[in-house]
Amino acid sequence: MADTASFEPVAVEARYPAPRAGIDPDPAKGWLRRVWPLVAARRGLLLGSLALALVALGAQVAAPAVLAAAIDSSLVDGSAPLGPFVVTLIILGVARGLFAGAYRYGLALMALRIETDLRATLYRHLTTLSFGFYDRVQSGQIISRANSDIRSVQMVLAFAPLMGLSILMFVLAFVIMLRIDVPLTLLAVAPLPFVYLLGVRLRNQIFPLSWITQARAADLATIVDENVHGVRVVKSFAQEQRQLEQLARSAQRLRWANLVTVDTRSRYAPVMENLPRVGLVVVLLYGGWLVIDGQLDLGVLVAFNAYILMMQTPFRVLGFFMMLTQRAAASAERIFEILDEAPDVCERPGAPDLVASHGSVSLRDVHFGYGDGPDVLRGLDLDVAAGETVALVGRTGSGKSTVARLIGRFYDVRSGSVRIDGTDVRDVTLASLRAAVGLVLDEPFLFSASVHDNIAYGRPDASRADVEAAAHAAQAHGFVTALPDGYDTVVGERGYTLSGGQRQRIAIARTLLVNPPLVILDDATSAIDVGVESQIHEALDALLAHRTTLVIAHRLSTIALASRVVLLVDGRVAATGTHTELMATEPRYAAVLAHAEEAR
Ligand SMILES: Nc1ncnc2c1ncn2[C@@H]1O[C@H](COP(=O)(O)OP(=O)(O)OP(=O)(O)O)[C@@H](O)[C@H]1O
Ligand SMILES: [Mg+2]
Repeated sequence: MADTASFEPVAVEARYPAPRAGIDPDPAKGWLRRVWPLVAARRGLLLGSLALALVALGAQVAAPAVLAAAIDSSLVDGSAPLGPFVVTLIILGVARGLFAGAYRYGLALMALRIETDLRATLYRHLTTLSFGFYDRVQSGQIISRANSDIRSVQMVLAFAPLMGLSILMFVLAFVIMLRIDVPLTLLAVAPLPFVYLLGVRLRNQIFPLSWITQARAADLATIVDENVHGVRVVKSFAQEQRQLEQLARSAQRLRWANLVTVDTRSRYAPVMENLPRVGLVVVLLYGGWLVIDGQLDLGVLVAFNAYILMMQTPFRVLGFFMMLTQRAAASAERIFEILDEAPDVCERPGAPDLVASHGSVSLRDVHFGYGDGPDVLRGLDLDVAAGETVALVGRTGSGKSTVARLIGRFYDVRSGSVRIDGTDVRDVTLASLRAAVGLVLDEPFLFSASVHDNIAYGRPDASRADVEAAAHAAQAHGFVTALPDGYDTVVGERGYTLSGGQRQRIAIARTLLVNPPLVILDDATSAIDVGVESQIHEALDALLAHRTTLVIAHRLSTIALASRVVLLVDGRVAATGTHTELMATEPRYAAVLAHAEEAR
């Protein structure tokens, strides 16, 4: 591994293609206007598809007119040959099919691209949000917003142009019909408002039901998710039966909601299907009488019927479309709730990279608490010189991990300052800061990837030799080579196929590979043998003469590795000195250690 001289920030910029546009940042605007920039970014596809759609629509509207001419001039009068009409109808049919296929594809493509853009926008924003946000919001909420809510917005965007086209088709058919016969047209459209009203009633009943169904499906998913992730707890308490009962109850509630939905739909659907046919019957009666009376040509009546069928689509789907729109509006609000969330921890514009070559840390009069909660740290002063190894000791809940999170600027202090090599952490880029501060947590999260990829997480382009060197230093090389595929062994989800101590060593190797000048081990060796732990510390020292190390520990053996101990009490540094000095002079130190030993 390289030494500090060649240290440079390694955090990598995102490489996937950026979305073409983001949403409108003004929260006062309506949801559609806020999404509009995303649609505008795909206007080529939208306009192209609409142009194709107009051709298809033209062919569709022209066909009944041709049919009327064919019936009247070829079949009834025999004044013109039938062949050309048939050919024209075939051409119109084929053209309509081709263009309709093309525009539907285009619109779907547009909607899916917008969906991808929206998802990328959301995900980008999620990556900028700080720990404070993730403390507050349940991950299930975030996942459902990123999936089903984005999907429901996408559905409206795909459906809206289709809705517009069917309304256009209605208008065209209506105008043509009015030109044929006004009373007949009015008779034909008379039932349509009722179709619409029925659609609205159906929507009013289905809409709350669909929310209930969605909520219950999410409940069910949560139970399944907890069962899968918590399987080790469930089994060790032999609570499978209780989980099954819980699942059955939830499934029953979902079934009820689904059944009521189906029941409501099946009551309305036949009426909605058949109401327009009433108009058809009336037109046939009155129109038939007109034909017999010689006031209307037979072909025109046939064409008329075709137009009536065309007119119904918008009325039938309007209710559904309005339901989709309402749902999308609610979904959009849920998405915007995340997008409008400003990150608590922000880079100053134009902030320079942190040039940390030594890794000294100094916290001055730091006050900090989580959210709106009380102060956890109350005027903390802490200095760690470059190259020093300091142990931070305190009772559980005393704020040790909090200090670690403040040094990496995962939260901002309420007052006071945190400096690395004399530079305030708020004055540098986050990427360079995080690359300089290697934080190893007690619960190492591994990805379901190979051991190599897990170690190389912070430096994906690292060579195998570098990865092995890091693993050597973290005393992981030995057990990794004993795995079935060595460094290429894929670890189970969250690393569960490895032991706790093995996971911790991989997490340490992952941090060492990035080679930060400052390493914070937050209980990161709690599951590692005392002997192995001291080898890790030796390697840490040897690798870099002036690497600064902050160890947070409860174990005496770990504390003994530090040259100085800092005791944290009531959010302040209560005492500092070597282990022996503190044992002799500070009764609270002895008490904390005794407490820790008891707890083990
Ligand atoms: N994300 C959080 N949101 C709200 N409160 C928190 C959060 N994390 C910690 N706290 C609170 O802050 C206090 C200090 O927690 P911290 O994790 O720093 O303790 P610790 O000294 O590391 O304890 P341990 O030895 O058990 O790891 C605790 O009272 C805890 O309840
Ligand atoms: Mg802690």
